[in-house]
Amino acid sequence: LVTCSPELGDGSPLGVLQDAAVVLEQVPAAGASAYRMIEGEPVPDRGHVAWVGCAADAPAADEAISVEGRCVVPGFVDSHAHLIFAGDRGEEFAARMTGQPYDGGGIAVSVAATRAASDEELLDLLIDRVLEMRAQGTTTVEVKSGYGLTVEDEARALRLACEAGIEETTFLGAHVVPPELRSRRAEYVSLVTGPMLSACAPYAVWGDVFCEPASAHAFDGDEARAVLLACREAGLELRVHGNQLGHGPGVQLACELEAASVDHCTYLSAADVDALVGAAGTTTATLLPGVEFSTRSPYPDARALIDAGVSVALATDCNPGTCYSSSIPFVVALAVREMGMTPAEALLAVTLGGARALRRTDVGHLAVGARADLTVLDAPSYVHLSYRAGVPIATALDLTPPSPPA
Ligand code: NIG
Ligand code: FE
Repeated sequence: LVTCSPELGDGSPLGVLQDAAVVLEQVPAAGASAYRMIEGEPVPDRGHVAWVGCAADAPAADEAISVEGRCVVPGFVDSHAHLIFAGDRGEEFAARMTGQPYDGGGIAVSVAATRAASDEELLDLLIDRVLEMRAQGTTTVEVKSGYGLTVEDEARALRLACEAGIEETTFLGAHVVPPELRSRRAEYVSLVTGPMLSACAPYAVWGDVFCEPASAHAFDGDEARAVLLACREAGLELRVHGNQLGHGPGVQLACELEAASVDHCTYLSAADVDALVGAAGTTTATLLPGVEFSTRSPYPDARALIDAGVSVALATDCNPGTCYSSSIPFVVALAVREMGMTPAEALLAVTLGGARALRRTDVGHLAVGARADLTVLDAPSYVHLSYRAGVPIATALDLTPPSPPA
């Protein structure tokens, strides 16, 4: 059992216990409901960890599940994903593999398909993607808007995410300037920071921006600052897409504004690394190696960042353009093979790291009180996540829920 709680187990940061047991309790906290309403249906809350230790010492429980020697880890926390979109950009991917660079221009294709989709289609697509993630071990996922880019379509995306029970919802109206306003950028920034933000804020926890002066479609430092300040004013916490396509102000802006996370970090200067080291207790650098894989960009040097003292997380960025993979195990394998992370560091980055990037203390570990989110590996050790790359060994544990109330 990997608890990701260093005070448990073998004294390593992973907190590993051999021959372990976890007792999970589904009793709700005083005053809370044991059920959440999702799409009008009561869904049992997953409960929390009530006890963890050696199996021989485990207290009695109503029901026991044996995983027969398999490794159990905290459910993965995917802190960066774009799951509300329709359409497909497989041809764009194929062209990139023969040398076509990525510049964000293809986002307009997904915007057109998403605007044309019905609410029902978008909700079905979202739920299918969340289930696809669960089947690969992910139990918490952040979901962004950003393929609507009108007041109505952005608010619709976030409303649907709430209906699907997504807790970590992010307003990304400032993904790119939509085609119809290409020559009127300032007008679009005013729309995002005004009526669009007002319509979206009730459904969003986070505000985000694609800060990338290297792309004509995305936002420069001044525009990004305006968007982030408006989001903060509206009560949203901040995250930033920064330094994906080239050097730019995204990383330093995120650190200055105390964003929870700055994501991509593909091109970093020495000053960017210094800023991330200084902000380590506040701002996490979320690396997305599936994007480097799918865009043929250079992988960021995670080894150097960790050695310098930067807080690092890993996430999929699952989206139709730069990484249409929902697989955290794939990300772990890339991080170990291409970015110099150890298997232990990579596992910590998709559990505790993801939780830190979302400012969550209840997920990403299995100490008493944590959410009952467990992922079972069909393997004896977490090392197999990268050792057996491409083999579907990770699955979120589905606990038999109590019957819903009448
Ligand atoms: O995080 N870079 C900006 N946004 C997404 C890609 C969106 C797309 O190409 O559809 C990302 O990589
Ligand atoms: Fe992204």
